[in-house]
Amino acid sequence: MNHIMPLNNDWFFKPSFSERDVVDETDLDDFSPVRLPHTNIELPFHYFDETQFQFVSCYKRKLPIIEFGSDEEVVVHFEGVMTAARVYINQTFVFEHRGGYTPFEVDITTFLTKGDNWLTVQVDSTERSDIPPFGFVVDYLTYGGIYREVQIVVRNKQHFDAVKIETPVVSIEKCTANITFKLSKLFRSGQTIIAQLLKEKHVIAEKTIAAHQLNELHSPDDTLRMNIAFDMLDNIQLWSPEQPELYELTLALLEEDHVIDTYQSRFGFRTVAFQDDGFTINGIKLKLRGLNRHQSFPYVGYAMPKSAQAKDADILKFDLGVNIARSSHYPPSRHFLDRCDEIGLLVFEEIPGWQHIGDTDWQAISLQNVEEMITRDWNRPSVILWGVRINESADSDAFYEKTNALAHKLDSTRQTGGVRNFDGSHVFEDVYTYNDFIHRGHNVPLESAMKIAKKKMPYLVTEHNGHMYPTKSFDIEAKRIEHALRHARVLNSAYASPDISGAIGWCMADYNTHKDFGSGDKICYHGVLDMFRIPKYAASVYASQADHAPVMTVASSMLGGDFEASELGKITVFTNCDTVKVYKNDRFIKSFKPTNPSFSALPHPPIFVDDLIGDFIKENERFSEKDADAIKAILLKFVEYGNALPLKYKIHMGYLFLKYKMNFADGAALYGKYVASWGEKSTVYKFEGYKDGACVCVSYKDSSYHPKLSVAADQEILMETETYDVTRVVIQLTDAYDQPLYYSNAVAELKTTSDVIEVIGPKQFALIGGTRAFWVKTTGKTGTASIDIQLDNGLTKTVTLTVK
Ligand code: GAL
Repeated sequence: MNHIMPLNNDWFFKPSFSERDVVDETDLDDFSPVRLPHTNIELPFHYFDETQFQFVSCYKRKLPIIEFGSDEEVVVHFEGVMTAARVYINQTFVFEHRGGYTPFEVDITTFLTKGDNWLTVQVDSTERSDIPPFGFVVDYLTYGGIYREVQIVVRNKQHFDAVKIETPVVSIEKCTANITFKLSKLFRSGQTIIAQLLKEKHVIAEKTIAAHQLNELHSPDDTLRMNIAFDMLDNIQLWSPEQPELYELTLALLEEDHVIDTYQSRFGFRTVAFQDDGFTINGIKLKLRGLNRHQSFPYVGYAMPKSAQAKDADILKFDLGVNIARSSHYPPSRHFLDRCDEIGLLVFEEIPGWQHIGDTDWQAISLQNVEEMITRDWNRPSVILWGVRINESADSDAFYEKTNALAHKLDSTRQTGGVRNFDGSHVFEDVYTYNDFIHRGHNVPLESAMKIAKKKMPYLVTEHNGHMYPTKSFDIEAKRIEHALRHARVLNSAYASPDISGAIGWCMADYNTHKDFGSGDKICYHGVLDMFRIPKYAASVYASQADHAPVMTVASSMLGGDFEASELGKITVFTNCDTVKVYKNDRFIKSFKPTNPSFSALPHPPIFVDDLIGDFIKENERFSEKDADAIKAILLKFVEYGNALPLKYKIHMGYLFLKYKMNFADGAALYGKYVASWGEKSTVYKFEGYKDGACVCVSYKDSSYHPKLSVAADQEILMETETYDVTRVVIQLTDAYDQPLYYSNAVAELKTTSDVIEVIGPKQFALIGGTRAFWVKTTGKTGTASIDIQLDNGLTKTVTLTVK
């Protein structure tokens, strides 16, 4: 039987390493207690020196007393150490792993002595040019430390290894599950293996294999690889993005009644295929609409435990409504992928790298990354494509022939991709995955698949926008709207092109980066969310394409002062409603539907509100109906063109002035009353979103100042489990109708009332774009804690959290 124990607590850390740390392994001078996941340094939000985390550090801890028999082994499983780890037991060097994004195991059995045993890890977080992604520049930071979890495993020396579950046939009538695995030591006579498939703890199929059947189990290429096939399974519920049905496989190796080893893994019954005319899952076409995700967070970089990783998947699926994420540019945390499996978010997972290809040793690590990534994640239904090229690297035929051959050998059920930024590349992959940045706001987005791939083959757009239009949450309104529209235009093109499987935008959230990129403050403002995962308008473009909840974002403060020549232009509403009704001070103006042909391929095109006057002039003024319409048309054109009003409208205006004996001041008064709403005590616009005749959302725009502070924790109950837990708390300053006050830099101060939680990062900070968030972590204690949030404008709120 194997025992898995989390090894995340009771570590000691020192931001340097010397031979003395191993020679005198129990010496804890200069060390401080830490828990994993751990960042080797807490960084500022922005404006910092990115060499700050690039140093060699030391982690150590006394191992718990481990009981194990002579037929057992003890291994330490590291999920991710950035960038290279040298592992010692007591004073002896045991193992080195190079590469920060993939797991590794260290067999420490023979190094353990009676009495205390110390585990010491030298962690090199410098940007070593011998390890991917380093060697040249990289547009993201890699941070440092033992930033993912660690476990200690005691297991029989004869144990299951490399267990792979494939579901080559799925249909309503019948499904198959094909299980292959290795045994680390030969299957002996008298031994049996029991394989069970379970759904919600109920066994739905079972097979027992005895050792005398061994010969049948030999596979031709690998004497130890065994196979158990479950054919003709009926009543299986398929895994799909809409209904992510998960099953479980358990394996038990027995000798008589004694359990030698067990294994368990979740999986799903589904097939996926990228074809020349698009992507299918379980034989059904699905247009992929996605975002790239970096796994970084403010202050702590990559070092975040389960709930923050899982929350990102939830944000992508439920808040942003995408159906695929690309784990740019490396394998993500298992917690992120676990959640993707659970909620039905598809993943394009890729090996670490960024444009640069190193020498043969470097390439050997990259090949090892292919193997580590695939064998870690091949049982995940969410993963639909392996990225086996260094993102945006040049052709390198010998290297990429190998990465593809390896991926295909390891996994025959998934296709490969490899992200390029040029056309006509030599293709060893099954899917031409291409970063298409041609859209500049005015031109038609997305190249044709044929033009880039030069032949008919499966094709996926893996990045767009990003650096083409970096946008901050505190940029002027016009920029934030154009940022959103650019994402909408590209998505529209992807939907309109049957041979494009989908488009994955750059990117989910802003991220810290190197000096060569970003806005000079070490941030790339490329996200549809900011670094705290707070939405910009572009987030609503994605959210509004999904159907699970009503979405209606009126992408405008409706205050001219933020626009060139004070012209609001058309008001863009990102919504999945079919109709939007607009009211001014409770008087109905007009209904609007999606009409703009530039967005007609989208599941839910934006709706443009281009008339805030309605019949008001007709109803209120002394003009004939026809002239009232003409005056309205002139005013609306004036909004569009300002003083450059086309001549025909100028002439018509002159004619109406003469007819009604009006002067310039009268005209200006009409503009003030019906367009600018100058002088009104208050102007409140109401937007109602309708779906199938029912009003499903309402939004108000108001120019008066009634600020409101809202504070919300992602989860109010935190759990100490295999390590500490975290939650994000979002602070937002809004008007009385919950509209963000985008330009507020109010200063917030946090006060915690108990030591069961700790704030990550500063406790005093200015809002950014009228909002900000912070994370808190548990400290190992249980109980209740309140956090008082006080803004310098006098507003306060308290959030209460419970740690269990
Ligand atoms: C791409 C690159 C991404 C990111 C993006 C910014 O070329 O693959 O990592 O840098 O540009 O738009």
